[in-house]
Amino acid sequence: MNHLINCLKSTKITSGSIKSTCILFRSYSSTTTPTIDYNTLIPENGNIPKSLLDKIGKNLHSSHNHPLNIIKKKIQYHFQSKLSNDQVDFQFFDDFHPRVSVKSNFDELLFPKDHVGRSPNDTYYFNKNQVLRTHTSAHQNDILRDGNRAFLVTGDVYRRDEIDAVHYPAFHQMEGLRVFSFPSDGDKKSHFDPSINFYENQEYKNNKEVKIVEEDLKRSLESMIRGVIGQDLQVRWVDAYFPFTSPSWEMEILFNGKWLEVLGCGVVHPEIMHNTGLGHDRAWAFGIGLERLAMILFDIPDIRLFWTEDSRFHDQFKGVDKSNPSEKGKKLQDIDIKNIKFQPYSKYPSCFKDISFWIGDDFHSNKFFEFVRECCGDLVENVELVDNFTNPKTNKTSQCYRIHYRSMERNLTNEEIDQIQFNLRDKIESSLDLKLR
Ligand code: DAH
Repeated sequence: MNHLINCLKSTKITSGSIKSTCILFRSYSSTTTPTIDYNTLIPENGNIPKSLLDKIGKNLHSSHNHPLNIIKKKIQYHFQSKLSNDQVDFQFFDDFHPRVSVKSNFDELLFPKDHVGRSPNDTYYFNKNQVLRTHTSAHQNDILRDGNRAFLVTGDVYRRDEIDAVHYPAFHQMEGLRVFSFPSDGDKKSHFDPSINFYENQEYKNNKEVKIVEEDLKRSLESMIRGVIGQDLQVRWVDAYFPFTSPSWEMEILFNGKWLEVLGCGVVHPEIMHNTGLGHDRAWAFGIGLERLAMILFDIPDIRLFWTEDSRFHDQFKGVDKSNPSEKGKKLQDIDIKNIKFQPYSKYPSCFKDISFWIGDDFHSNKFFEFVRECCGDLVENVELVDNFTNPKTNKTSQCYRIHYRSMERNLTNEEIDQIQFNLRDKIESSLDLKLR
């Protein structure tokens, strides 16, 4: 059974079309999974490597002049100055802790029990009840219950994933939500009816209020993205699925001749509105990945750079944000980023080493990627599957992965890489379900 899931999962990860549309933004839009109780697979002491726990509290998005902070403020500025008015005032939440309950991260967002996002191969669990949030949507329900009607939440989020220039197990998202009230004839009845399938029901999707919310959502997000990237930006909407919204969409932007997915959004599911005491209101919500936008806007070629402490990176963004970081709570100013392009300080050569093994039923590529990251550190630039074959007689599967090493800061020596690779080979068999070849 496990093996079946692994196969399904790895097809999903590596298949061309899905890869190109999903991975950079990493949305929760796919649903095809076999029925399984993921709860039974969560290790008692969780599955979070030490290197990741060390990332908690770095708060890159709150660090003055960090490119993620610049992007965050540009979006906040737009919501404060262009999308707030007498009726709506967006509140900003920037420092919620990333340790959240499974209830907030999945249950209250209506994730089915067998949604693959719940798998410990995808999500970092402290224990059965607590995770490192996989998305900033995890805070929606609590903020609504506290009575807020328009807000943005920014934070670090965590997912087990592949290793390459655009994937890192920790990244940043911003969540936005706005509630709408509609005049009713005194009858304040909840819109939620458990017998309706809101993901499919056409009458619901064509409802006048839902349409008004949809229009406001699309108008607001188009104006936001143009405010951040540029007024002549081309934008298109693609239908999507998220458990917590219906209808749902992804926004794509035309950038350097390619359509890129930048955010997911939708009309908040009536059950969530009902559960937070807002059953007679409607709302829209969206989630956007910040690394993606920063990489596009500043030409940042590798996601590991966001975590570097090298001044040759940070010096390039110094002074871009003219505001005074000690004057918090003041009205935000727009930040001019037109001419800010990252100049790679040098491209040090990369080298690669292959590793081949027979995999067992319990093997999952994400476990392997994480082990490599944990054992070999951030010198690993990219890990790719270069060979995968199953012996028809024994039914055993062999895989070969190519590990590319590159430092952002210096030349690596052959001996150093040999040592790292030797260390990996030495430890891997006792930790993962595989036999080296
Ligand atoms: N949480 C989703 C993700 O991580 C993004 C998202 C989609 C957020 C739709 C939303 C939304 O609020 O309405 O992929």
